[in-house]
Amino acid sequence: MINHDETRAIQRHYNRIAPVYDLMEVIVEQLAFSQWRESLWSQVNGGEVLEVGVGTGKNLHYYPDNIRVTAVDFSHRMMARALRRSQAVGAEARFLQTDAQHLAFADRTFDAAMATFVFCSVPDPVLGLREVKRVVRQGGKVLLLEHVRINAPVIGPLMDLLDPVSVRIIGPHIARRTAQSVQKSGLMIDHVEELTPGALVKLIHAHVP
Ligand SMILES: C[S@@+](CC[C@H](N)C(=O)[O-])C[C@H]1O[C@@H](n2cnc3c(N)ncnc32)[C@H](O)[C@@H]1O
Repeated sequence: MINHDETRAIQRHYNRIAPVYDLMEVIVEQLAFSQWRESLWSQVNGGEVLEVGVGTGKNLHYYPDNIRVTAVDFSHRMMARALRRSQAVGAEARFLQTDAQHLAFADRTFDAAMATFVFCSVPDPVLGLREVKRVVRQGGKVLLLEHVRINAPVIGPLMDLLDPVSVRIIGPHIARRTAQSVQKSGLMIDHVEELTPGALVKLIHAHVP
């Protein structure tokens, strides 16, 4: 069941930080995120693609030409920036404000779904991933670029301890076990790329069974 209070709080948070979001991430974007985004989108080929949590549209630059993207987010302020960016860079997408935990699409609408740094914020990630599974056709690819809890003796428990502080101050959870959530949702994991030391950032390759 959707936790509406938490959902509204996170939505408000992203609406509030939308004007400074790109600035907050400018260094990590240059150092690493942009390369990871490029790698993710280079693995998408053809068809109707859902981007969950489009944010300010940082992935727009990397959309391949042969796909039609439907980009969703529950923050209208983040998405307004994505819309402006799409016009500036000439990348086409259909934008829709909807909650990942209750996607406004019929079953099996898409051939594939992508998300970058989103399921750290979705209040109930398993619910969101079940929705992704519902709206992507059987066999469709699901690629998730996510920062997750580090599975190490001291750092892992420390991340658990600091997780509520992170949610209160900066918004996202820092101790999400996203690969486990993917499994719980019924999606099938094909493989997981560990992109950083300690596997803090992972690219999860999954599909709809
Ligand atoms: C950390 S930002 C990442 C934005 C973008 N994907 C990127 O890589 O820069 C997380 C985004 O997910 C969106 N989001 C979080 N929970 C959501 C939900 N339940 N439904 C739709 N969008 C959600 C937020 O509004 C925000 O734009």
